[in-house]
Amino acid sequence: MTDRELIRAAFAAREKAYAPYSRFQVGAALLAKNGQVFTGCNIENAGYTPTNCAERTALFKAVSEGVTDFDTIAIVGSMAGKKNTLVTGPCGVCRQALYEFCGPSLRVIMAKGENDAVIRTLGELLPFGFGPQNLEI
Ligand code: THU
Repeated sequence: MTDRELIRAAFAAREKAYAPYSRFQVGAALLAKNGQVFTGCNIENAGYTPTNCAERTALFKAVSEGVTDFDTIAIVGSMAGKKNTLVTGPCGVCRQALYEFCGPSLRVIMAKGENDAVIRTLGELLPFGFGPQNLEI
């Protein structure tokens, strides 16, 4: 699975976004170390607070299927019907949720197009992250 293929999977997942309130549609594709890809979209709620981001949808799908080791996540986001002008970085909650399973080495691809992406590690996006090691697990 190439970065380009993973970005394409994130764009496909974005098509499923349920975002009637913000109209900001996000797709994520999470590549596990075993080669499996788990995709997710954002899922909003009339109560606003229960909204789930695309990244956590993908992560929770994977963990609930017993997969917990990850290599890379690709994220794409933009307003409905528009092309993205900025890359979409994972929100703070998603950085923390990913850190639990991925630690600092996860590659995070924030893409505007298949050939237009910013790539960082989760450690760069969440320095001094708090994780299981802090609780001596
Ligand atoms: N959102 C994501 O799904 N991922 C991000 O990284 C940023 C924000 C969603 C949450 C909400 O449905 C919408 O984008 C606007 O915040």
